Amino acid sequence: MFIPQKALYKTQMGEAYVGDSLDLLTKLPAESVDLVITSPPFALQREKEYGNKKQDDYVDWLLQFAEPIKRVLKQTGSFVLDLGGAYVSGRPVRSLYNYRVLLRLCDEYGFHLAEEFFWHNPAKLPSPIEWVNKRKIRVKDSVNTVWWLSKTDFPKADVRNVLVPYSERMKKLLEDSERFYHPKKRPSGHDISSKFASNNGGAIPPNLLQISNTESNSQYLRYCVSVDIKGHPARFPEKLPAFFIQFLTEPGDVVLDIFAGSNTTGAAAENAGRHWIAFEKDKNYLSASAFRFLDEMSHDELTKFWSDALSSEQTIEILKRQKEMVLMEDKVNYNARNKGRRKGVSV
Ligand SMILES: C[S@@+](CC[C@H](N)C(=O)[O-])C[C@H]1O[C@@H](n2cnc3c(N)ncnc32)[C@H](O)[C@@H]1O
Repeated sequence: MFIPQKALYKTQMGEAYVGDSLDLLTKLPAESVDLVITSPPFALQREKEYGNKKQDDYVDWLLQFAEPIKRVLKQTGSFVLDLGGAYVSGRPVRSLYNYRVLLRLCDEYGFHLAEEFFWHNPAKLPSPIEWVNKRKIRVKDSVNTVWWLSKTDFPKADVRNVLVPYSERMKKLLEDSERFYHPKKRPSGHDISSKFASNNGGAIPPNLLQISNTESNSQYLRYCVSVDIKGHPARFPEKLPAFFIQFLTEPGDVVLDIFAGSNTTGAAAENAGRHWIAFEKDKNYLSASAFRFLDEMSHDELTKFWSDALSSEQTIEILKRQKEMVLMEDKVNYNARNKGRRKGVSV
């Protein structure tokens, strides 16, 4: 148990809690988390269905979380914040809110900008319609800013965990460096030595992350359809948190998402062998996020799971590898209610 409160569900590696993160954060011990990675509700013009703050209040609202996040982060920890761009309401002028958030996090709360990242989502739809589609005076905005912040100058990080495949040109060079490459000084003054031609298992990735947000047939979405609910409207692709989890943590470390939504972060952490904690104020979103961790289930099993998740006061334990699912502290009752209905329910 990460905090003294009943989790909505738990898996082998993590726990998901319903509540306001401002409150839940106070329940976590100081310096207990290696990585906070999150994507808050954005300061968009249109009100999103998951609740949005007006742009003017947004920066102040978001900064309430800065001090509590800093408190729970280890000295070597990182805070990764994904912020989508926005226009000023009614004008073809960009809001500076994401830059204001960054400046204030560093100037007022003492975070360091370890590096700025940009997440390019080629699949993003053009918007706002008025400026981009109708009047055609702005281009498609398909890049989010992702601020990688830290408490100290040297947060835990290892680029070797996120190397990307070499380009074809580089592969040729590595195969026969004598033929393709001669060490020399570049016009920039950089001395490119023969070490350049040594194979490090992959290339260092840039701070531009190109990841399409096109999930359409995941288990999460299929299970949402099966129980007749909509998937979370603002999910990020699993590859985004997965990149930072691999880069900034080690197996067994603790990853926290304070605006968990459909708990993409938890799933990425579980797959990478990291512990995870998810905070989300909307119980429906968090209940559905459990779909990410379940084994194959029939429609009836899933419907039963869904109604249990919504109504139960007990923590649901999902032990994927053992194909078991039990309601903790209420195992006998649960078994009785489900007698003969589901394989793999342990008592
Ligand atoms: C942009 S969504 C996060 C989506 C998530 N990254 C995913 O992949 O599903 C932001 C979430 O923050 C939640 N939220 C907003 N204010 C909150 C608060 N004070 N405490 C906890 N969750 C909150 C919203 O309900 C919403 O689900």
